[in-house]
Amino acid sequence: MACMEWTQELETGIQAIDSQHRQIVNYINELDDAIQTGNTDGIKHVIEGVLNYTVTHFEFEEELMQKAGFSALKAHQQTHEFFMRKVAVLRGRSNAGEDVSSLLLSMLKGWLVNHIKGEDRDYIESVKKITGDS
Ligand code: FEO
Repeated sequence: MACMEWTQELETGIQAIDSQHRQIVNYINELDDAIQTGNTDGIKHVIEGVLNYTVTHFEFEEELMQKAGFSALKAHQQTHEFFMRKVAVLRGRSNAGEDVSSLLLSMLKGWLVNHIKGEDRDYIESVKKITGDS
């Protein structure tokens, strides 16, 4: 059963970004299902997925911010790097046999609230000028 739904307040209005951000909601729901059903393979699948996701999404977003001349790019990149490091640490702990599923779930939920609803909003105006989103 899905625990989280995509809502309008998560939207940036930049289509490519929004469709990538939706994937985080999908991962939250996939992870929640895996926890409920004790599916350890499912949990590992989400950890690997989130790691790959962070690389591709962050690169995409940073390139847009750079092209748009967004002034706070450096600080935003640091937030991305910090999150990636935290996910990588969790993967290491998971590979060592620890159950990190609850930690990962709260980290992903926190990322939605603090980053997607927070820092990601700061670049919307600049980036929209180059993507053509209205
Ligand atoms: Fe959409 Fe800055 O991550």
